[in-house]
Amino acid sequence: MRLEFTLNHKSVLLEDLPDELLLLDLLREIVGLTGTKRGCDTGSCGACAVLVDGKLTRACRTPAAKVAGCHVITIEGLRDLHGGPNDMQRAFVEFGAVQCGFCTPGMIIAAEALLLKNSTPSREEIRKAIMGNLCRCTGYQQIVDAIEITAQRRAAAQAGG
Ligand code: FES
Ligand code: FES
Repeated sequence: MRLEFTLNHKSVLLEDLPDELLLLDLLREIVGLTGTKRGCDTGSCGACAVLVDGKLTRACRTPAAKVAGCHVITIEGLRDLHGGPNDMQRAFVEFGAVQCGFCTPGMIIAAEALLLKNSTPSREEIRKAIMGNLCRCTGYQQIVDAIEITAQRRAAAQAGG
C-alpha cells in the first residue's frame, strides 16, 4: 500500500506498506515516533491516542490506510513556537501530573482534543474527556488541574490579545 498524509505538519509519502498495517505500528515502527505508547493494544487504555484531523483517535485500533489525506498529530507534534514543550506539556510537569509518564502522551493528546472542541471546560467535562485514558500513578487530580490551568491560561492569553 502507498500512503500519503500529513504527520506533525509535514507531508509524508510511504510506499510498500502492508495493507493491514495499524497506525500505531506505522508511527512507532516505521517512522520511529515512539512517543505514542502501546499499552493494552485493545482500545481500552488510551496510551496510543493521537489526533486525526483534530479528532481523538486510538492508533492501536486504526488501520493506517484510514489516515490517507488526513493530518495526524502525535505528542511529538505538540510544540511551542520555539520547538520546546507546549503550555499543556509544561503544565503537566508543573502540576506533578506526570509520574511514570506512560499514560502522559495519550493524556495530553486527549486534553488537546478536548480544548479544540471546548476551550473552557468545567472540571467535570475534563474528567469525562480523559475517562478513556488510564493512569495508574497520579490519581487524576493533578492531571485535571494541569488541563484546567492550561485552558484558563489560553483563555486569558486570548482575552489579552
Ligand atoms: Fe491503544 Fe491501549 S494501546 S487503547
Ligand atoms: Fe504513570 Fe499515568 S503517570 S500511568
